[in-house]
Amino acid sequence: MQKTIDPYSSELVEDYTKIIKDFGLSRFNSKLFPKPNRLMRRGIVFAGRDLNIISKCIKEKKPYYVLTGIMPTSEKIHLGTKMVIENVKYFQDHGAKTFVLVADLEAAAARGVSLEEGRKRALNFHIPAYIALGLDPKKTTFYFQSENKLVMNFAYYASQKITLNEFKSVYGKADPGRIMSATTQVGDILYPQFKEKMPGIIPVGVDQDPHIRLTRDVVNRSKRMGFFSPSSIYHKFMPALDGKLKMSKSRPESYIELPEDKKSLNKKIKRALSGGRDTLEQHRKLGAKIEQDMAFELLKVHLIEDDKELKKIHDKYKSGKMTSGEIKQIACEKAEKLMDDFNKKLIKARKLVPKLKFIRFQ
Ligand code: TRP
Repeated sequence: MQKTIDPYSSELVEDYTKIIKDFGLSRFNSKLFPKPNRLMRRGIVFAGRDLNIISKCIKEKKPYYVLTGIMPTSEKIHLGTKMVIENVKYFQDHGAKTFVLVADLEAAAARGVSLEEGRKRALNFHIPAYIALGLDPKKTTFYFQSENKLVMNFAYYASQKITLNEFKSVYGKADPGRIMSATTQVGDILYPQFKEKMPGIIPVGVDQDPHIRLTRDVVNRSKRMGFFSPSSIYHKFMPALDGKLKMSKSRPESYIELPEDKKSLNKKIKRALSGGRDTLEQHRKLGAKIEQDMAFELLKVHLIEDDKELKKIHDKYKSGKMTSGEIKQIACEKAEKLMDDFNKKLIKARKLVPKLKFIRFQ
């Protein structure tokens, strides 16, 4: 049976080459971008759509935007979301106008979070968390979906440009809440262009690609309006600590979130799937099975910035000089530091909330 990858199911992703082919994506080439970030350098960002035009905007200092949306559900940040924010930050640091919207309508439709509750959570946690993870509050424009009449008007327009069958083939399923959320998201993705037509990039996990495809279809059918089709950039899923390919809410011990207390952090990392051999003797002789080591994966994707430092650890572990216990120890120390840093910045960022640039609508 064909697997669907959409925002609502959590299928395993084993083969990124196949996704690139099936979705018609382009393989990511880090040479297109100056000073690629950690995720780009290490192949975690693996694909995109229409990246040449964004590369050109950066090199020629032309206007473009980067945009992402927050679902204000639980007051936790997923490591996948952290990757999105890091990519948003990359483009923000490279000249993009930055937009972050709170998907409060979607959270109400999809998760039953009232608009009032969603607003509170976004102001108290999600927005400060995005700032704590590196977004520059002075250079970021925020809005709530529920207040943005222009986005809603566009969602109505977009609904006339797609058929139910198309929707089903892009999303797998169609129910009224999904349709409303998806056409609203089309409005979000194009919103910065309502005023000024310019290229834009949307960093997402592959599960969000249907929204990008839908938006591109709507743009193609609205040539008169002169929108640039949105570009996108995709990161791989963060595997779970038990080595399964996707984290799941039903196995909370299998993934780390921000914030998390030190005790549970240490416990999870210590129990993570390791690439160490059965005996120390074998380990020294054969070296680690590094591809399956989840503590090393954490170091690679999130915890070590410096490529040389990472390579040293990689080489020592792979050759058996370092043990899996030592790798886990390093991961625990670095993860604790990440948490401390996040918590401190979160407190500071909360104080900035009253001063943020929110688009206000009458
Ligand atoms: N659907 C996204 C989520 O589930 C939230 C979202 C709404 C979004 N509008 C967006 C993401 C526009 C990217 C761009 O998290």
